[in-house]
Amino acid sequence: MENFPKKELLNIVKTGMTGSRSAFALAVGRFASKLKQTDLELAQEMSKFLSTEHVMRGATDFAPIPVDADSRMELVETIFPVSLEKRPILDQSTQTTLDGVLREWASLEELLKEGLAPARTLLFCGQPGVGKTLAAHWMAQELKLPLLTLNLATVMSSFLGKTGNNLRAVFDHAMTRPCVLLLDEFDAIAKRRDDETDVGELKRLVNVLLQALDDWPANALLIAATNHGELLDPAVWRRFDHVLKFEPPGRQLIQEYLAEFVESEQVRVSLASLLHGESFSSIGQIVMSARKTALLERTELVPNLVRNAIKLRLSKGGMAKPLDGEMLLMFFEGHSRRDIATHFGKTHPTVSSVIKRYLGE
Ligand SMILES: Nc1ncnc2c1ncn2[C@@H]1O[C@H](COP(=O)(O)OP(=O)(O)OP(=O)(O)O)[C@@H](O)[C@H]1O
Ligand SMILES: [Mg+2]
Repeated sequence: MENFPKKELLNIVKTGMTGSRSAFALAVGRFASKLKQTDLELAQEMSKFLSTEHVMRGATDFAPIPVDADSRMELVETIFPVSLEKRPILDQSTQTTLDGVLREWASLEELLKEGLAPARTLLFCGQPGVGKTLAAHWMAQELKLPLLTLNLATVMSSFLGKTGNNLRAVFDHAMTRPCVLLLDEFDAIAKRRDDETDVGELKRLVNVLLQALDDWPANALLIAATNHGELLDPAVWRRFDHVLKFEPPGRQLIQEYLAEFVESEQVRVSLASLLHGESFSSIGQIVMSARKTALLERTELVPNLVRNAIKLRLSKGGMAKPLDGEMLLMFFEGHSRRDIATHFGKTHPTVSSVIKRYLGE
């Protein structure tokens, strides 16, 4: 009995009495994996119970949603099933990390049998409009799990001293069932540091979060999203399985985003250089407004798109060749190539080549 995994057996009893279903499964996995050395047959018998269905049972049960004790407002919003029109366009390293997490979840059973857990906690950092919320929705969709989003406004508007309780209630709710919990715009909590909030309150909040990160179960995914990762306590930062930095899209990704709307590659390249430096959400707005104009005025989409992009770029004074922009705007106003050439003191072929570069015609 020398090699008998006593500690692991005790852990099974403990988690069985006090922990979540997945913590229990994880403990059984750890025990069975150690037991293989002494009693392979028994270890295999035990592992049979560690099926994904057992561990993920309850994903579609809707437990009562926790509410703020004073306002009675619900503290989380639940979406199930999540279905997105299109997937987020992400840079290679972000995509690789997220794919890796999904792969671990797809192999949940295999991992649990060795007493291992998939990645359970992710921190998304990045400026507004780069796809943090969208990526969290996408993960919930791919995992086919309910998405619970923490309603931070409600949690924070509760009376001082209650915020910690509310946060705790949300964690308890999310930890008891397979789900994705999104703590969106998490900086709101960190930002309170500047306000009149007492330091004790903030410490309590951070402690609630740290505790949750340490105890997080293997059948739920916690995603925290923030614009200001640097404001977060380093102790918080360290506890996440992965920290992902979302950057504004580069030219290549902008081209990928535009592929759906713009056929000509040459035009996509020009548009990408005009829109470089913008977030996906402002690019999305430009596309949306161009589509509406094209529809209502019965015109082509591409010229509207280029016009919007040039206006945006000129308004920020950041166009590499401002004259190109001026020429194009004149072209959009209905002037002929010859008129434009005369106006700017350029040749007709120069004007034509600018138009071709941006409009592909
Ligand atoms: N990576 C992306 N791929 C495709 N579309 C995107 C991407 N990022 C943002 N968008 C578009 O912009 C919108 C806003 O993005 P999202 O809400 O995910 O930004 P965010 O990073 O969460 O910003 P915030 O910090 O303001 O919450 C999305 O609904 C989508 O239309
Ligand atoms: Mg967001």
